[in-house]
Amino acid sequence: MTRRVLSVASECVPLLKTGGLADVVGALPKALAGQGWAMRVLMPAYPGLATRLKGAKTVWSEASLFGGKGRVLAGQVEGLDLLLLEAPHLYDRAGGPYGDARGDHPDNPERFAALGWAAAEIARKGLADGWRPEIVHCHDWQAGLAPAYMAFAGVTDVKTVITVHNIAFQGVAPADRLKALRLPDEAFSPEILEFYGNISTLKAGLVTADAITTVSPTYANELMRPEFGMGLEGVVAARSGAVHGILNGVDTDVWSPETDTEIAAPYGARSLTGKARNRAALIREFGLGPVPGPLAIVVSRLTTQKGLDLLPDLLAEFTWRGGGLVVLGAGDPQIEMALQHQAGLNPRRVAVRIGYDEALSHRMFAGGDAVLVPSRFEPCGLTQMYGLRYGTVPLVSATGGLNDTVVDANPAALDAGVATGVVFHPTDGLALAQSLRRLVELHRNRRTWRQLQRNGMKAALDWGRSSAAYAALYESLAE
Ligand code: ADP
Ligand code: GLC
Repeated sequence: MTRRVLSVASECVPLLKTGGLADVVGALPKALAGQGWAMRVLMPAYPGLATRLKGAKTVWSEASLFGGKGRVLAGQVEGLDLLLLEAPHLYDRAGGPYGDARGDHPDNPERFAALGWAAAEIARKGLADGWRPEIVHCHDWQAGLAPAYMAFAGVTDVKTVITVHNIAFQGVAPADRLKALRLPDEAFSPEILEFYGNISTLKAGLVTADAITTVSPTYANELMRPEFGMGLEGVVAARSGAVHGILNGVDTDVWSPETDTEIAAPYGARSLTGKARNRAALIREFGLGPVPGPLAIVVSRLTTQKGLDLLPDLLAEFTWRGGGLVVLGAGDPQIEMALQHQAGLNPRRVAVRIGYDEALSHRMFAGGDAVLVPSRFEPCGLTQMYGLRYGTVPLVSATGGLNDTVVDANPAALDAGVATGVVFHPTDGLALAQSLRRLVELHRNRRTWRQLQRNGMKAALDWGRSSAAYAALYESLAE
């Protein structure tokens, strides 16, 4: 018998993506179908999304949902079962899902409270089409209030899971919004959702959900420590028995060099000749000169979380040693400028594209020799996994999911034939510089390099194991 789970999130591939969260939310339903769980995804109907739903039907509505009419449209997009929360007063506006050029939308607390509220109501009463979930699976602060509303309404027969994709984002709102967010006075206590005098929707979820998951085993451990918990370490540690680290997978329908239609030439672990054509194409596309050493890529938000502020100063040496770099990303203007400055100094070796470009990111994974992910913290990280699948050797810091997915090419791992990349620690300029030197050395030895590529391409990074872990968790809760 197929079981029922409602996934609640603010973004989902293929409808809307600003980061890895969307990849994961979009991939989970397919992966869980194979485990006997039918997952429907509830997300806001940002502008233009509702028109993409096939067979749209209204399955839930509320006359006054945080200041206006709200309804849920059920339908399908590319095989996904979606529930779009339509509430024009909250979601029908220009800009991104969280804000516009002026910054975050000031009513984000209400905008995402509405999402949590709708989820809790669906859990409480079911949808007009008769569907009612056994599990509500919430993602990040945007869905953090769903388990809280359910707890306050006394819904106990539907169980809740909250997944932390990044504890740096905590859904903080001023205390005086409590009533507006339909939260009872008693919720505003340090035991529930009060956080340094404010409301934290993530804390609300962490405290009230039946289980907490995060996206890698290492991050599950890090979350309970002050260096990584961002003030919520005590809250997570207090629930350590309910915390599970389940690694994200890769959607292999989208990320496989054998079948990728975006790239110049397909290839696989057995024959890497296609990869050389992709490399040449990437070099041509960016007008680089010959790159005798490793051609590194970065596909990322350009932020200090990602450690990319450390990179510009190291490029003179890296390129002098033969390396090249292509960057695709956007974010912190200072990092953007520092990288662009380096590209200006050495345009035959360094190229930077500021912006977001899905198709280009595929060409880069296919054409690069190495992918750099020097994050200060990284709950899971997807680009190092895409790198592994594409024979693009990851160079990563030893944190979070990076630590759980890449095996450092130390002598023991090389002897055992299990190395897949370069792992460095701590995340600072000195260690990154050292690891870039190691990368160049490893690249010089063709046999070793091939071994790293092949090992990475063989690694089981699909959703199989992780979706089984989610299914097992749901089953243990729903019983
Ligand atoms: P995070 O979610 O913290 O940004 P992840 O590594 O989990 O980091 O996921 C980032 C996702 O966004 C990956 O799918 C990556 O390929 C994609 N991505 C990031 N920046 C860009 C960009 N500028 N253009 C295209 N894709 C990007
Ligand atoms: C967050 C994290 C990233 C993770 C992604 C998906 O954006 O920063 O490490 O891969 O969520 O879980």
